[in-house]
Amino acid sequence: MAYILAPSILGADFSRLGEEVEAVSEAGAEYIHLDVMDGTFVPSISFGMPVIQSLRSRTDKVFDVHMMVEEPGRYIEDVKKAGADLICVHAEACRHLDRTLHQIKEAGCMAGIALNPATPVNVLEYVLPEADMVLIMSVNPGFGGQKFIPYAVEKIKKVRRMVLERGLNTDIQVDGGVTPDNADELLRAGANILVAGSAVFHGDARANVRTFLEIFRNCSRKA
Ligand code: DX5
Ligand code: ZN
Repeated sequence: MAYILAPSILGADFSRLGEEVEAVSEAGAEYIHLDVMDGTFVPSISFGMPVIQSLRSRTDKVFDVHMMVEEPGRYIEDVKKAGADLICVHAEACRHLDRTLHQIKEAGCMAGIALNPATPVNVLEYVLPEADMVLIMSVNPGFGGQKFIPYAVEKIKKVRRMVLERGLNTDIQVDGGVTPDNADELLRAGANILVAGSAVFHGDARANVRTFLEIFRNCSRKA
């Protein structure tokens, strides 16, 4: 399985976002993780469509938009137009999750379902085949730089089991408190896309990306 690093720009220096995105793209990150927060679904407000759109010309990497927004179905078209390739919505924020996933696919994007730490994986039972990706949150969403919640590992294993049992090839992403120290464990548990904000952008972003990519190479070699 291909392992992917998705640097979260929430951890970047916002005064030089374009350069930060270029740096991690050149260093080998395949996805750029963009955290949209509405101040209602999560306590904080981050950025929205104009920021995504202005970064679009800086890289051709996959724009992975994590919508921490109530009823994100209202914004799918706009987020797509701003440059999203993958739109990930929270199961807890969608009254009609199935409909929202279809809206995302009709807009021509890959669709992801995000689960808060306290949300059981059984909400995926019927909609799993509609998703290209499941995002297991390993912190309560809303802020970068929080501590990894250990029981997320068990959830990743459960979702990987569900995906395999059904013969699907759904990607499993993990987001929150991901570092080079827990990366190997997360890949072994069944995640294949790691989101990292502080662990990439605090310090030398290019070198930090290369550290993760080296862990990916070692893990594939051992697998
Ligand atoms: C948190 C966001 C994350 C955040 C991760 O709500 O969804 O993407 O940027 O930051 P770190 O890697 O610092 O935990
Ligand atoms: Zn995120």
